[in-house]
Amino acid sequence: MPPRVFITRTLPETVMIAMTRRFEVLRAEPDRPLSAAEIAHGARDCEGLVSMLSDPIGDTVLAACPKLRVVANFAAGTNNVDLAAAKRRGITVTNTPGVLTEATADMAFALLLAVARRIVEGDALTRSGRWNGWGPTQLLGQGVQARRLGIVGMGRIGQAVARRAQGFGMDVVYHNRHRVDERTERSLDCHWVPLDELLRTSDYISLHCPLTPETRNLLSAEAFRTIKHGAYLINTARGEVVDEDAMIDALESGALSGAGLDVYTGEPRVNPRILALSNVVAAPHAGSATYATRDRMGMMVFDNLSAALAGQTPPNRVV
Ligand code: DGY
Repeated sequence: MPPRVFITRTLPETVMIAMTRRFEVLRAEPDRPLSAAEIAHGARDCEGLVSMLSDPIGDTVLAACPKLRVVANFAAGTNNVDLAAAKRRGITVTNTPGVLTEATADMAFALLLAVARRIVEGDALTRSGRWNGWGPTQLLGQGVQARRLGIVGMGRIGQAVARRAQGFGMDVVYHNRHRVDERTERSLDCHWVPLDELLRTSDYISLHCPLTPETRNLLSAEAFRTIKHGAYLINTARGEVVDEDAMIDALESGALSGAGLDVYTGEPRVNPRILALSNVVAAPHAGSATYATRDRMGMMVFDNLSAALAGQTPPNRVV
């Protein structure tokens, strides 16, 4: 009998085909975000669980699935999974690092340019029928050339953003728990600075750290008081890295000129105050949403599951 696997959302077609060939696949119909209770119910007799970054996989879900051997998260981040509980119960957890680097860096840069050059506001004006022609002071925004970009979190995605920034002639600094090696710094033409200095001196701040107990609320109300007046914030990491109320206050007061956001605290709910702001470009957590990236993430999930359920160490084991 093939191992039984519960998949919480419909994955790209090629991935679903591979999954159904190798496993007995159970999935919820229709395709929609599931509650913790629904996931626990769906996976109760399964050895494998494929979860999304929006699925809360806490100890209650794990406890309800006594046969579970592996949780294969379809995401690089694993902040939605109670890793300590999984470890205690001997359940392997895997993720999909690496393959979404370029897509997420593209999204960060797309948001940066969109908010700085007011692309979404311009689009709305053009469509509105109220555009009365070119104007010398119409929709002025901020350029990026020679402006400072402060990257918080210099892992794979942070480095990919730094590469893009080089092409746009930006002055790049970064903050990371550990400095990256000198060769990488040289090749990206960037240097490490303390967080405080990054916040005080950057015209654009882009967040690329994972959500951990240490990075939750890293951009606190205090941090927003430190940020250079008129800077732009880009967040493609996790909403909870930022004190969202403090960010909104800063956007409303003009302390921040704008924000490009792909992530929010308490997704999929988005604070209505954010939605009321014309200086925010708001994407629906779509950083990795390219055809090729989602296929590759799915095949990584498949490889992780296959290995774990065959009793081997999966390639992307987290615990
Ligand atoms: C991840 O995988 O953690 C990303 O946020 C998906 O877009």
